Amino acid sequence: MGETKLPFDIDSIVKVALGEIREITEVNELEKWRVKYFGRKGIFAMLTTSIPEMEQTLRPVIGARINSAKKQLNEAYEERQAIISSSFKEASRFEMNLTLPGLRSDYGSFHPITLVSRQIVRIFQGLGFGVHTGPEIETDFYNFEALNTPADHPARDMWDTFYLDTEKKFLLRTHTSPVQIRVLEKMPVPLRIIAIGRTFRRDAFDASHSPVFHQVEGLMVGYNITFSNLKAVLSFFLKELFGPEIKVRFLPSYFPFTEPSAEISISCVICKGKGCQTCSSTGWLEILGAGMVHPEVFRKSGLKDNKLTGFAFGAGIDRITMIKYGIDDIRLLFFNDIRFLKQFR
Ligand code: FA5
Repeated sequence: MGETKLPFDIDSIVKVALGEIREITEVNELEKWRVKYFGRKGIFAMLTTSIPEMEQTLRPVIGARINSAKKQLNEAYEERQAIISSSFKEASRFEMNLTLPGLRSDYGSFHPITLVSRQIVRIFQGLGFGVHTGPEIETDFYNFEALNTPADHPARDMWDTFYLDTEKKFLLRTHTSPVQIRVLEKMPVPLRIIAIGRTFRRDAFDASHSPVFHQVEGLMVGYNITFSNLKAVLSFFLKELFGPEIKVRFLPSYFPFTEPSAEISISCVICKGKGCQTCSSTGWLEILGAGMVHPEVFRKSGLKDNKLTGFAFGAGIDRITMIKYGIDDIRLLFFNDIRFLKQFR
């Protein structure tokens, strides 16, 4: 059977159309292409309308050729549409949409112990106190001996110690009081300093005790320093820290490195002194240990001037932080739970 000669070159039309669609990268160009070939006044519409004018025998052949060409171009159209839409999706992932709410970058917060330590430093700097530090690993001499607590002294039981060697020469300091000796050895008197740092005791890890905690030590040494100075400085400090409305109470106490010694409490910040769970119904919260520097401490630090006097104090920063922020379990300060920590800005 010989090939039927058509009145137009449908193969060339297909070839040109395929060539055009291959170059198309934009949706609107693709739509123009579709209208050109498949629109109401497009090339295929024209070809179809011309069929009835053709010879009777040619009509079915032309109809079949037009249909197969349309099918081929339609497939090309769908393929190209898929390519363009997938590359559009890809590109739109990186497109900036100024109407979307911004992504807020997370910012850190200060640990409540840091916030309270800074406040303590600010208060004492305002009173002319210098800020010192000392080592966390101490010798028996600085932690005990020089603080008038020799090896057989019963007061050693006050501090259950982490020793670092079998001879018990090195240890983790049980309090910040060894900084008193280090400062007295080096600095000229008169002096007034505070020292903040970590301290360690073999205490159970429960709601009110941690084996690692923080203390602030204070020391003021000079001539004519009396217990009145101690009372004035510590009352001022506690009222600055907790508010002017609190009451401060001084009771006799015992520390081997101070004489006389005092235990200092504030009226309970929760019940205002009436008695509640936080203050164990006493109306008072114990905050500090303090006293007048024992002459033996001066002697062990190499100071021979008999006229020198001074006072010292030590407070637990973790307990102060708990009172200030109403935290009922000291362990929260050490678990590093971000949900807890980010409440403190
Ligand atoms: C002392 O450590 C003395 N060095 C304080 C001192 C300094 C007295 C200078 C006189 C002159 P004490 O053992 O009481 O004292 O401890 C002081 C504070 O540390 C306590 O009131 C408490 O707030 C805190 N503290 C003690 N043990 C722990 C613990 N395991 N966890 C959390 N805080 C603690």
